[in-house]
Amino acid sequence: MLKARQCVREMRVYHSPLCGPEIDLRLDLNESTTGCSPRVLAKIRSLDAKLLALYPDRESGEKLLSDFLGVKAEELLLTNGADEGIDLLCRAYLDSEDELIIIVPAFAMYEVFAQSTGARIVRVSTAADLSFSVEKVLQAITPRTRMIVITNPNNPTGLAVDRADILRVLQAAPSAAVLLDEAYFDFYGQTMMDQIGKIPNLFIARTFSKAYGLAGMRLGALVGAVEQMSVVRRIIAPFNVNAFAIECLKEALDDRQFVANYVEQVRSTRESLGQQLDAMGLKYWPSFTNFLLVNFRELRQSVLDTMTARGIALRDRPDCPGCIRISIGTPPEIERMVSVLKEIMVEKPVVQQVAK
Ligand SMILES: Cc1ncc(COP(=O)(O)O)c(C=O)c1O
Repeated sequence: MLKARQCVREMRVYHSPLCGPEIDLRLDLNESTTGCSPRVLAKIRSLDAKLLALYPDRESGEKLLSDFLGVKAEELLLTNGADEGIDLLCRAYLDSEDELIIIVPAFAMYEVFAQSTGARIVRVSTAADLSFSVEKVLQAITPRTRMIVITNPNNPTGLAVDRADILRVLQAAPSAAVLLDEAYFDFYGQTMMDQIGKIPNLFIARTFSKAYGLAGMRLGALVGAVEQMSVVRRIIAPFNVNAFAIECLKEALDDRQFVANYVEQVRSTRESLGQQLDAMGLKYWPSFTNFLLVNFRELRQSVLDTMTARGIALRDRPDCPGCIRISIGTPPEIERMVSVLKEIMVEKPVVQQVAK
């Protein structure tokens, strides 16, 4: 057997929770169960064989998206999902003796990409109520801190981080690449994109996997100051984003109504799910995303098992004791999930007395 680098030998394989054929309702990966814009689908159907025979032209897509976001084309890289943007930053800025700060509970891929560089991962916990604690992050910054990741709104909590707190972190660590992961921006509406070019150590990651319903297309963006992005650009593969994604980008961006409708559907379904959870006496966190983190306490395992048996996948979050993350599906899908939940609660009503 060949000997991989030590940091890779120490890693475990990250298994995506994609599930088996018994699952027909996926509420575990924060995908849109509504699908993508019909305009994007029509565009895909119109593509011809010749186009697919050619390597994709990323620059045309970068021009389109940078105009849309109000940044310069040189400040933006189209990436193979937001995942690739995170990986690029880790590879560009982390050496084995460096430190990366993440705020836990966190999106799993930060650790995977950081571990592969051999850097030391510094896990800063949230406050007891799972909110972002700027003081804890500031305390964790050392001369070795080369990267800090802030997810806003956060996954898995759904909670937002104050702009003033993000600015404090950016100022406190001028030698660190601060990645603001705005994967759920469209559901939240607040961004730091206006600071790109003004704050040299700020990077922002975006994705088309959530509000645009294009997780299968693998399209995202990494945005940052020109001086930094010109360095990151050195390590990206020239054809990292596929031709479907680049050809469909304009339709995806132009169909504003589609995204607005989906975001509104998520907001109202999330609200009504929240009311039903309230009625069942279950605690959840106020979310600015397309998911809710719910505390089922001692019922956690039986909720997961029963849902799986009924064909519904939810996301276990062992990093938040007792909690499960539930993606906001369509109203009928959430109704189906809630009806199973009600059965469980009738069978085991004990949680109604202890939760909340
Ligand atoms: C916070 C966060 N960042 C990044 C991603 C990855 O997005 P993409 O599908 O664009 O790689 C996800 C996906 O769930 C996410 O939750």
